[in-house]
Amino acid sequence: MLLEDTEATNALGGALARTRPVRGVVHLHGDLGAGKSTLARALLRELGVTGAIRSPTYTLVERYPLPGGGEAWHLDLYRIGDGAELEFLGLDSDEATLWLVEWPERGGGFLPTPDLRLDLEVAGHGRQASVIAVTEAGREWLARLQAVKTTEVATDS
Ligand SMILES: Nc1ncnc2c1ncn2[C@@H]1O[C@H](COP(=O)(O)OP(=O)(O)O)[C@@H](O)[C@H]1O
Ligand SMILES: [Mg+2]
Repeated sequence: MLLEDTEATNALGGALARTRPVRGVVHLHGDLGAGKSTLARALLRELGVTGAIRSPTYTLVERYPLPGGGEAWHLDLYRIGDGAELEFLGLDSDEATLWLVEWPERGGGFLPTPDLRLDLEVAGHGRQASVIAVTEAGREWLARLQAVKTTEVATDS
């Protein structure tokens, strides 16, 4: 889909939040400036995170307790030296109900399998986004997302 401006990226993040499963893993692919953090921030806001949402560029992970229970973990692996570093963060905890991972390709097999894979790319003044379901939970998530998107478009016109 074409995301014409930052607001459209925010809307996709919000829709992903509203349709998410109890437990979900999202891999966010795309170059620097593609809009990965924008999308993650919008998603976290929609889930009720009210405080500062910092980029986990240096900490690798930021954890957000969610008002509805569980925790969302936002990772940015751009600066990770080796995927094995993830093991030292104590990441395979049951507390994470949502994983949002920027630069997942640098996690080298130390990340959980994504339910959804998002690819973001600069396209003119906007961004091109593609969403691929990897697991059965991801397929169901994507179906709900498409239903929400269709309703939103129908409501807009
Ligand atoms: N659909 C869009 N169209 C135009 N600009 C966008 C869009 N989505 C996000 N941006 C802008 O792109 C810039 C970089 O986004 P960011 O989320 O930090 O990228 P990344 O985390 O992938 O490096 C931000 O200024 C943001 O407002
Ligand atoms: Mg980023």
